[in-house]
Amino acid sequence: MFSFAFSKSLTQKTLEKTITSSTINRFISKFTLIDTKGNKTEIEFDPEEENSLLDIVLEKGIESIHHSCNGGFACGDCHVYVQPDKFSKLLPAEDDEKDCLSVAKDLKQNSRLACGLIMNSDAVDLVIEIAPYRK
Ligand code: FES
Repeated sequence: MFSFAFSKSLTQKTLEKTITSSTINRFISKFTLIDTKGNKTEIEFDPEEENSLLDIVLEKGIESIHHSCNGGFACGDCHVYVQPDKFSKLLPAEDDEKDCLSVAKDLKQNSRLACGLIMNSDAVDLVIEIAPYRK
């Protein structure tokens, strides 16, 4: 009787540990940012917060995305390319972003502005490449 109770208790502890571990892992979401030199950085974010890409990278102290208007849709410096096969699954650009992006250099079908790109659950595991900076 005692050994059965001990065994069950140990199994419960193992199960609880497993559940806790998998629960925590479920909330750690990442995307990959590729800078203009080809360096890749995996960045963790919380998709529930629905922050912009620019806000997330600045909060992490990453300064590889230019942003002279600080997210005001006025400079176009924060031009990025998103993974083409996921482009249509992301929240679409609002009019302010579209207007600013329309004058960006090196525009592609998968161009977005980091200050307009909302990083929600559709952006989990997304690969984003920073466009060349030209002024
Ligand atoms: S930071 Fe200026 S348009 Fe995004």
